Amino acid sequence: MAAVPRLDLVGPATPLERLDRLSDYLGHDIYMKRDDLTPLALGGNKLRKLEFLAAEALRQGADTLVTAGAIQSNHVRQTAAVAARLGLHCVALLESPFAAPAADHYHPGDNYQHNGNRLLLDLFNTEVVMCDALHDPQAQLREQADRLEAQGFRPYVIPVGGSNGLGALGYIQCALEIARQAQQVAFGSVVVASGSAGTHAGLAVGLQSLMPDTTLVGVTVSRKAQEQQPKVVALQQEVSALLSLTDAPAPVTLWDEYVGARYGVPSEEGMAAVKLLAAQEGILLDPVYTGKAMAGLIDGLERKRFAAGPILFVHTGGAPALFAYPPSH
Ligand SMILES: Cc1ncc(COP(=O)(O)O)c(C=O)c1O
Repeated sequence: MAAVPRLDLVGPATPLERLDRLSDYLGHDIYMKRDDLTPLALGGNKLRKLEFLAAEALRQGADTLVTAGAIQSNHVRQTAAVAARLGLHCVALLESPFAAPAADHYHPGDNYQHNGNRLLLDLFNTEVVMCDALHDPQAQLREQADRLEAQGFRPYVIPVGGSNGLGALGYIQCALEIARQAQQVAFGSVVVASGSAGTHAGLAVGLQSLMPDTTLVGVTVSRKAQEQQPKVVALQQEVSALLSLTDAPAPVTLWDEYVGARYGVPSEEGMAAVKLLAAQEGILLDPVYTGKAMAGLIDGLERKRFAAGPILFVHTGGAPALFAYPPSH
């Protein structure tokens, strides 16, 4: 790993804490890794990936970061903040997950278009390009990069969610922190939201060697397990190759029952989890990722799906999106 350039954006470690009131409430030892508290622009998991991705952009002499996501993408918000911090231009290619007519006719309303993460993009001076849909994000990002090059910029493309092998290295770093901070606590399970899968894959590779007796559970937020599985495995392989690790990838555990209607549509259980964590711990989860992952943790406990031992929930951030959805009662 020493040969891979890395910026220090996260600092020495995010906190890892026991959630006393939630543990009493659920009757089980619950801990939380506070990656919602990474230091830049309201925090979140992407800063860890950007330590590697932005370092590579600088190494290549780029002056522009180009990435893509949903209008309320936390990844895009954090990429824009890092660009601002580094004095780079940032181009965000955005789609609305609610633009195409869907059977459920769900739309969160105007705040989705303008508030939350989207509002912050304007503060960071991001160049926003809207598209109907990210049907082939790699090709669409390449098109943007070509346009920017023709305009004299030197763009560096960051994939959706920052999820390639390089980005996922950020979660090796997180696994190292967890192993160090766990000290006397023998975690039976670690729970994380699994979206574009880089977070999940990086943790999987890191924990495989650092905490081999702990089961990592990825709670999907957009896909069925059979579609998510190959994404996680491909990224595990990419990360392992970057680290010259030769072990076969650890088996992937995915729970896909907590997506709700679809990506970006809050679920009843997810919002109940958001409220529970707010009321019991003063901690803000989000409607799209961590609320659903926490709903998985709570239901998994009820259904006795977990191995014995304390559970660590990796809080990957996302609270700015709370302001993009209607209040739930
Ligand atoms: C708050 C939050 N949690 C979890 C995730 C999922 O991380 P990954 O895309 O690496 O699977 C994201 C991704 O955008 C996120 O914004």
